[in-house]
Amino acid sequence: MRLLQALLVLSPFLSIVKSENEGCPRPVLTPHVEALGLQLLSPPGTEAHLTCAPGYTTQSGVGVIICSVRGTWGRTEFVCQPKMCPAIDTPPNAEMHFEDNLYQSRVNFTCNEGYNLHGASSVVCQENAEWSASSPECKVVTCGPPPIPDNARIVYDIWRAPGGKAKFGVRGTYKCVPPMALIGNPRAECTSSGTWTVAPMCQMVTCPSPEPIDHGHMSSPTMSNYKDTIKYGCTGDYILSGNPFVQCLETGQWSPKPACGAPCSVDIDRGRILYNGRRLWIKELNPNKVFHNENVSFYCMNAAGRCGYAVSSQCINGTLSIPDCFEVPTRFKYITGNGLPSEITQC
Ligand SMILES: *[C@@H]1O[C@H](CO)[C@@H](O)[C@H](O)[C@H]1NC(C)=O
Ligand SMILES: *[C@@H]1O[C@H](CO)[C@@H](O)[C@H](O)[C@H]1NC(C)=O
Ligand SMILES: *[C@@H]1O[C@H](CO)[C@@H](O)[C@H](O)[C@H]1NC(C)=O
Repeated sequence: MRLLQALLVLSPFLSIVKSENEGCPRPVLTPHVEALGLQLLSPPGTEAHLTCAPGYTTQSGVGVIICSVRGTWGRTEFVCQPKMCPAIDTPPNAEMHFEDNLYQSRVNFTCNEGYNLHGASSVVCQENAEWSASSPECKVVTCGPPPIPDNARIVYDIWRAPGGKAKFGVRGTYKCVPPMALIGNPRAECTSSGTWTVAPMCQMVTCPSPEPIDHGHMSSPTMSNYKDTIKYGCTGDYILSGNPFVQCLETGQWSPKPACGAPCSVDIDRGRILYNGRRLWIKELNPNKVFHNENVSFYCMNAAGRCGYAVSSQCINGTLSIPDCFEVPTRFKYITGNGLPSEITQC
């Protein structure tokens, strides 16, 4: 009122600039700030009340600007910021995906493998600084009773109350009533889809009568059912090669048989050999026989005739090859021993 009176008194003077100062145009406002009830042109002295847009709030600044006689609005530091929703704790067995917890932000929830989401999978921070819904729950997936094939049972990895629902991740192993064989995957698991893995089958398995091996013998089996075992051995000077135990497998076949290897004779007339760590003249090998898989070394002369060296050969199932470099010494050399590769300096 007082301002108005002053304006009236001064009106003759002001009239010169009056046309330029008819009032203030709509103020340019910073984002999310709103001014209520303003006309296109506000007369000097008008008070504009600033507020924040819904979802925004101010912490600083005076919310009033006044239109001055010069036709400009007063300055203010009035700033509006998005409201903040309370922090959310990650629900058990869930993951949260979000950027922040400000107005209009979204939080997405996903459950870990083997858990199902109950409730809202996504919430939004609202105008009132509250979330649009409460956090969801991730409930563990359960499986019904596992399939149990005939003549089978399950042994769980950890103790489980019988009859209780199995949770995702529960594991066990199928066992067949002996002597039945388990055909398929012996492991059982409650999967994340709430179903059990495919169960195996229990079947009666018999193997044919076991076959004998040459130069060998075997324990006489009473039955030839799954998992029955027989033991093989060799007769006389024959040596067994392979696993002596043979088992009836779930395929109805026996596991691979071992074999018997024949002994060898060392077929040189004269010379020295290295056998079982001993240097022997061939006459001293009595009887002249080495066993399957055993090694015998023969002495050879180096090219310049300066030194001798031993070359090893292995008896394999009755065959012992003499190294090419071996030379049968003359009778005379053999008797005197002079200059034999086994008797001179070794290379
Ligand atoms: C939340 O999910 C929506 C819809 O799937 C997607 O557009 C948005 O990017 C997700 N937000 C985050 C933070 O992961
Ligand atoms: C040795 O040879 C015989 C005849 O060929 C064979 O039956 C046997 O399996 C062989 N033994 C070994 C250990 O290889
Ligand atoms: C004979 O030599 C071979 C090859 O050097 C070796 O693998 C094998 O074990 C030896 N046999 C014996 C009975 O020592």
